[in-house]
Amino acid sequence: MIVLGIESSCDETAAALVNEKKEILAETVLSQEEHKLYGGVVPEIAARAHLNHIEDIIEHTFRKAGLEPKDLDAVAATSGPGLIGGVVVGVMAAKALAFALNKPFVAVNHLEGHALVARLTNGVEYPYLLLLVSGGHCQILVVKGVGRYERLGTTIDDAAGEAFDKVAKMLGLGYPGGPMIEKSAAAGNENRFVLPHPLRGSDDCNMSFSGLKTAVRKIIESYGNDDNIEHVILPQKDVADICACFQKTAAECLTEKTARAADYFRRRYPEGKHLVVAGGVAANGYLRQKLMTLAEDKGLIFAAPPVRWCTDNGVMIAWAGLERFAEGLTDGLDFKPRPRWPLDENAPKAAGAGGVKA
Ligand code: KG4
Ligand code: ZN
Repeated sequence: MIVLGIESSCDETAAALVNEKKEILAETVLSQEEHKLYGGVVPEIAARAHLNHIEDIIEHTFRKAGLEPKDLDAVAATSGPGLIGGVVVGVMAAKALAFALNKPFVAVNHLEGHALVARLTNGVEYPYLLLLVSGGHCQILVVKGVGRYERLGTTIDDAAGEAFDKVAKMLGLGYPGGPMIEKSAAAGNENRFVLPHPLRGSDDCNMSFSGLKTAVRKIIESYGNDDNIEHVILPQKDVADICACFQKTAAECLTEKTARAADYFRRRYPEGKHLVVAGGVAANGYLRQKLMTLAEDKGLIFAAPPVRWCTDNGVMIAWAGLERFAEGLTDGLDFKPRPRWPLDENAPKAAGAGGVKA
């Protein structure tokens, strides 16, 4: 069984071919450089860049695998959530191929791509506890099966990746911010500034990053009297210290709520073995280390996909598509791309308002 996966929901144009033996037959990822100038992804520029590159990316992926479109069993594409212009480009390409080949089309939720990829890369089995941390989402879920999620907690404001990106922008470190902050933090003193832990101790698994970001802003503002903090130039050592303190605090916020969720998961799903982290922020080595220690404390096995499959890629979409296809979950060519698409939409609600009481 061979499935093509197409990803185009943000600023990566990507395609991959995977099979049911968990073999990655080929993959191609093009990270759009066009946005660097703007300090963030510009949706219209992204959509045009996807349009310009998608055919080449798909062709290149087939060539690398030594396969032809007729070898496919199904065609999957990120069909939401995401920047709708880009999503439409990927969905249209996938539908056109599916139609021409008379093969099924699978509409993949981008978050499900992140959520399931550790099953391919790390052999994780259902059910598992998942911390999903990307540029647009920050959630703790129990993954029970394809399309079957119990959401235990979520951010009530910014996503973790968004906070990394905004702090990096304030410090003039460029986009995407996460890797730049991690790099700078390596030379910093993580105990120099005391930053707030929003929602620490709240009786649920929800998270918040907006106050943390504001606290960083205040520190930066204290260095200058320019209203535009992007004009404030900080000594490199101070930038490194701020990055280290922010990274430490963000990782603590994530880890503390994951710990609470792990207690619930162990009680409610005693057969579950794994704590998985996924999404772009899961590429962060500091966070991975903290979560590994947490998993050991809670008697869980820690699993994080290799870094290149944490950030957006085609493999995760091909794999989620393959899992869906294997369960007979295909979609019609009339499937409408969805800018918003909660992962747990059809799942039973977690106990307690706003998340599980753990
Ligand atoms: O999953 P992803 O590639 O795209 C979305 O679905 O949003 O995640 C992108 C996010 C960005 O916010 C980026 O700054 C963050 O992941 N990120 C990181 C690291 N690498 C990427 N955050 C912290 N540390 C990293 N090493
Ligand atoms: Zn993503």
